[in-house]
Amino acid sequence: MKILATGSALPKKVVSNDDLAKMMDTSDEWIRTRTGIRTRHIATDETTTGIAVEAAKKAFQASKVSIDELDLIICATVSSDYIYPTLACEVQAALGAKRATAFDIGAGCSGFLFALATADAYFRTGRYKNALIMGAETLSKMMDWSDRSTCVLFGDGAGAAVVSAEGDQLLSMVQGSDGAGGMALKCKNRSVSNLFHQVAAEHYSYTEMNGPEVYKFAVRTVPNAVGEALEKADVKVDEVKLFLLHQANMRIIESVAKRLGQPLEKFPTNLQECGNISAASVPVLLDSVYKEGKICKGDKIVLAGFGAGLTWGACVIEW
Ligand code: COA
Repeated sequence: MKILATGSALPKKVVSNDDLAKMMDTSDEWIRTRTGIRTRHIATDETTTGIAVEAAKKAFQASKVSIDELDLIICATVSSDYIYPTLACEVQAALGAKRATAFDIGAGCSGFLFALATADAYFRTGRYKNALIMGAETLSKMMDWSDRSTCVLFGDGAGAAVVSAEGDQLLSMVQGSDGAGGMALKCKNRSVSNLFHQVAAEHYSYTEMNGPEVYKFAVRTVPNAVGEALEKADVKVDEVKLFLLHQANMRIIESVAKRLGQPLEKFPTNLQECGNISAASVPVLLDSVYKEGKICKGDKIVLAGFGAGLTWGACVIEW
């Protein structure tokens, strides 16, 4: 597998902590010191499909792959515009990628890692050559805006990568899930209600999170997953140039850096500007780091995601 190109898109409206403090009982100081987040992009007239297509087009144009050569589209999302059709099918239609097989993956904030692993597995069948993998979210619509403990943490955005079967950049991949811990971060779908079993009219559900539980899960799981991925790749932690972690909370990133014995400078971040954009966070960060020229041929980098499910994934890439 080889990453040919990346792209990203963020909604134009930027909401600061101070903006939120005018609308709810919170403060810039609380949000910044607990999480590192300063602003987030919030969709207004954008949709998940709209920002996904924008990110996909940018990655696609830079990849030099022709639309007829695209045979796989995998979108990681928990906030598509429709329950069905999938976001991946919407992106396929917008791109006119008629040959592609398109489907979504729901793995919360680990979604992009799961999409990458799935594309790699498809490539290994020998029947797929080029894939568009994405993470795209409008989490703002999934928030209970009267719950200050969750709504200040999340944002909206989309990131994409065009990957090809011709290459051997992916040195290792580790994935895991712990469904037993899943209720720590959840958003309920509709209840069963039909002619034969009716429930009283229900309201939409929103994100509910046990913050301290998710925090403990992240600081325990991510260093282990990264360690396992490094071992599988036979790469020493000091050889890694950059660690691109899911952007949930600065304190989680600091804790992982400490556990791995690595300087914080090796952990680029965008959570200050974007908040937590779930499946989009790793590809949006990858896109900006790559475009800033911080990744060169031969560099070893780690990508890692963790989140709802509970799920986690980590991989080592040699660029
Ligand atoms: N503004 C001001 N006060 C807030 C607040 C907000 N936005 N949200 C919660 N509070 C209050 C609570 O009501 C509580 O008040 P109380 O002590 O009077 O009951 C207090 O702040 C809790 O503060 P604290 O104990 O310092 O919170 P914390 O250190 O557990 O941090 C999180 C909370 C959510 C930042 C932290 O648990 C976390 O980051 N968890 C991981 C979440 C995550 O990353 N999820 C996504 C993973 S993909």
